[in-house]
Amino acid sequence: MKLDSVRFDERDDRVVVTLDRPSKRNAIDQDMVDELHAVCAHLEKHPKPMLLTGGDNGIFAAGADIAQLRERDKHDALQGINATVFERIRRLPLPTVAAIDGPALGGGAELAYACDIRVCSDRAFFGQPEVRLGIIAGAGATYRLPQLVGESLAKELLFTGRRMHADEALSARLVSSVVPPEELLTTADALLDKIAKSSAMALQLTKLAVHSPPEAHPQIEMTAQAVLFEDDEKYARMTRFLERG
Ligand code: COA
Repeated sequence: MKLDSVRFDERDDRVVVTLDRPSKRNAIDQDMVDELHAVCAHLEKHPKPMLLTGGDNGIFAAGADIAQLRERDKHDALQGINATVFERIRRLPLPTVAAIDGPALGGGAELAYACDIRVCSDRAFFGQPEVRLGIIAGAGATYRLPQLVGESLAKELLFTGRRMHADEALSARLVSSVVPPEELLTTADALLDKIAKSSAMALQLTKLAVHSPPEAHPQIEMTAQAVLFEDDEKYARMTRFLERG
């Protein structure tokens, strides 16, 4: 895949996607959105877990590109340029882990919220400064952040634009662990190592079940299980357990 703002490293059991626009602090412009769509199209066709990171520059992403944002009009807003690609990331078939080092602001934070699990460095911070720029956090923070940290804290962050540092993000359960920057990628990889040990089909259907609306339960789980009960891999994995030495 030929990409400029994003690095794409495909391994046997995962892909590592690195936002790569350091001169603009990984601000998310249209090119980066287009490239993230290309990554999603690939993963929808060839599902693998994804590690999403801002690389080792001490930045995850500074949000939507404000130079482009300033020039956008109501028609652009109605297209949901960032919201659409973040939703596509959220719906990727297999688990996604965001590894956050340094700032994750505005759309950068929303991109992290779209991933299934977040781990961050002790110098990471999250924030939604959109109202200070005269706009709303339109790409997921108004609905994902309340789910992740509770409505009251989410509203406080959205109304004030204050930054939430790593330790608070951990106590609010926005991230599952905080580590020194030099351990961030190995921590995220270790999490993906554990995930990658499981059946890809079971992971995919688990994610689908978790994302399903209340009225879909428990039929969605029953249907998913019916598919898995007929899967050779289930028989092989259970046999391995039963016949272990
Ligand atoms: N959009 C466009 N450009 C951005 C950007 C953004 N969201 N964030 C940073 N940049 C650019 C700066 O304009 C600057 O470009 P220049 O070198 O051509 O002047 C470059 O990235 C470096 O930014 P700088 O502010 O000097 O870096 P820093 O390391 O001191 O601070 C941040 C990093 C992320 C804390 C700071 O850039 C920032 O607050 N950015 C805006 C965050 C924001 O409001 N996001 C919400 C968007 S909806």
